Amino acid sequence: MERRFIYLDNAATTFPKPPSVLEKAVATYLAMGVSPGRGGYDMAVEAEELVTQIRGKLARFFGAPDPDRVIFAANATDGLNLVIQGCVSPGDHIVSTRLEHNSVLRPLHHLKQRGIIDYDLVPFDGRGFVHPVAVAEKIRTNTRAVVVSHVSNVLGTIQPIEEIGRVCGERGVPLIVDAAQSAGVIPVKMTPWQVSAVAFTGHKSLMGPSGIGGLVLNRDFEVRTTRYGGTGIDSESPFHTQTYPHRLEAGTLNLLGIIGLSEGVDFVLAEGQDAIRAREIELVTRLRDGLSRLDGVKLYCAEDLTGHAGLLTVVVEGMNSQDVGTILDADFGIAVRAGFHCAPLVHADLGFGKVGGVRFSPGPFTTRDDIDAAIDAMSTIAGSH
Ligand SMILES: Cc1ncc(COP(=O)(O)O)c(C=O)c1O
Repeated sequence: MERRFIYLDNAATTFPKPPSVLEKAVATYLAMGVSPGRGGYDMAVEAEELVTQIRGKLARFFGAPDPDRVIFAANATDGLNLVIQGCVSPGDHIVSTRLEHNSVLRPLHHLKQRGIIDYDLVPFDGRGFVHPVAVAEKIRTNTRAVVVSHVSNVLGTIQPIEEIGRVCGERGVPLIVDAAQSAGVIPVKMTPWQVSAVAFTGHKSLMGPSGIGGLVLNRDFEVRTTRYGGTGIDSESPFHTQTYPHRLEAGTLNLLGIIGLSEGVDFVLAEGQDAIRAREIELVTRLRDGLSRLDGVKLYCAEDLTGHAGLLTVVVEGMNSQDVGTILDADFGIAVRAGFHCAPLVHADLGFGKVGGVRFSPGPFTTRDDIDAAIDAMSTIAGSH
């Protein structure tokens, strides 16, 4: 009998994608896959109009005022690099957190190494949350921005962005939110939450393909151009166009990705973010309850799942997490993410910095049977060790 493949790594990328998303995207691309904004012929104009319409859809989705400030990039990492590198000047200071992914930590570290900025990382509490007051305490007169991930990709904890936004608003410091793990399951409301920039990725809960993501900016947050090239306008000028969105986009857009992202957003809106999250929380609660009954399996920040997104990280005492991941895959056909999840400070601060963690992340197509199979497999692994 062929073994069932169980995918519990949706925090890395959602899989499978809804077939309708990809089918509709390919059909549109087959019909008008020309370079948007690069020609005067009807189809190029039509493709540009479609892209403009999708910028509008994304601005509405993120509660942002201006479709022209929706910037397409390769993924959240690319968007974060654009905004972090494009907003700082020599002597600036950044406040971020110890929950961050390397897509924030590394740009900050490289800027510091080059002597351009200094930064402080705010710790999280024992339940996995960053406190707005702790953020406020780190803000200096030269703080250029605060950068916070909306949802920790290791703990699943949803950070109090609205309260952090209030703190930043009072101090006049722009707030940059990494929405890689939240967009598509937890609403992001830029204007009401006083968020200046949101970096998003298309291939996770937005249900689009990989290779598309970007940045949404508020009107009052100026970001410098850090890469240069063709934009399809002002071609005679030696300088990169300074009007948004082209100011931060260089080269031919990923049209297939943009259309796929748009279809993914439609899928999410049709299903409802609250409904998707409620289902994922139900599955993660089932998983948490099952795993917490096992001797030798330690769960992190999962006692109360009300402020959580649908992912869970555990350690099997006495085992390296990579080994647990390998056994889950090889012996049980279960795909998870084991190791440090590109956010090594979280593991270090919670005391599993040597062994790493095993992350389970259900998605829209995960079933209760999948969860029960994961609990059984972990019971065997922890029991036989
Ligand atoms: C919190 C967080 N930020 C940023 C990223 C980067 O996303 P991407 O790899 O799509 O750029 C991830 C991806 O795992 C993430 O979980």
